[in-house]
Amino acid sequence: MSAFQTLAWRGQALVLLDQTRLPGELVYLECREVETAARAIEELVVRGAPAIGVAAAYGVVLGALQALDLAPALFRRRLQETRARLARTRPTAVNLFWALEQMGQVIAAGTGLDNRQLCDRLLARAEELRAEDEAICRRLGQHGAVLLEDGFKVLTHCNAGSLATAGYGTALGVIYAAQEQHKRLKVFADETRPLLQGSRLTAWELQQHGVEVTVICDSMAAVVMRQAPIDCVIVGADRIAANGDVANKIGTYGLAVLARAHNIPFYVAAPVSTLDLSLAQGAQIPIEERRPEEVSQGLGRTTAPAGVGVYNPAFDVTPCALVTAIISEQGIARPPFAAALSRWGGRSAPG
Ligand code: MRU
Repeated sequence: MSAFQTLAWRGQALVLLDQTRLPGELVYLECREVETAARAIEELVVRGAPAIGVAAAYGVVLGALQALDLAPALFRRRLQETRARLARTRPTAVNLFWALEQMGQVIAAGTGLDNRQLCDRLLARAEELRAEDEAICRRLGQHGAVLLEDGFKVLTHCNAGSLATAGYGTALGVIYAAQEQHKRLKVFADETRPLLQGSRLTAWELQQHGVEVTVICDSMAAVVMRQAPIDCVIVGADRIAANGDVANKIGTYGLAVLARAHNIPFYVAAPVSTLDLSLAQGAQIPIEERRPEEVSQGLGRTTAPAGVGVYNPAFDVTPCALVTAIISEQGIARPPFAAALSRWGGRSAPG
């Protein structure tokens, strides 16, 4: 359904749609080395929790290809180093660690294989993860679409769409599924400072999919909730703790507070691979802090005086008490979330 592909494996390379160049340019980055893939994740060429996970899985394949000629013991050591390098790219989205653990299981199960055979197994698993991710998003979308009625005005934050997954999307997947059921929706996209994933990416991809979208500054959300009025908020997630606390793009927590104040349902859409049942609550989720220049040099120019202090956490944690429902490929969970999330599964111990 998309005229673009967020990520793909071609020949011996991971090909990524360069999201730092959107919406102005549709260009792809070819990664043939682990380091190129790792930097692409760090620099947000590819971003969004599920997409980061799948990209990292292919990153392990790149590591295997680069090390094919090494002696078997060195080859396996290089694979562990590759996984460790990719694990250092971004700390918050648990899908990254989940995908690297999946690749680790392939390595552990492949003790009798030669380098080439193990490399082929790793590629097959990465391809599976990519295909599964899209199928999971479609199931998630079907579950979530029942929450949206024809004519709804929906507010979203950051980008949790085709660009943030191997295809289709989570929060935006719910919107696409509702659209496929001929429900007409109006979407409001927070621009999502500092890196503008909402205006650069969400608005662009919704336009590509023929969904009516209006961009607003983050600071306009309260007024739009009252004036539009907004019928529901839907966001994605980078990591969900066992109690249902949700880490997502900075600004999500504020939106949830505003939604509660305006009596608007606040929905979180995420695959089971985003659940981290090893963490009892959101306070334990590591929050990435990014370069100050993303704030002080925004919009391509200096936007704060030289030497000023800058705080730039990339994510925040929304307490489960503010979440109306969590939508996954398994269905819809309502508070208290713990029992449903533990039934759904997800990551249970750090690997
Ligand atoms: O820093 P980003 O752009 O990777 O942050 C992305 C988000 O916060 C998304 O909402 C989240 O990963 C869910 S993507 C389906």
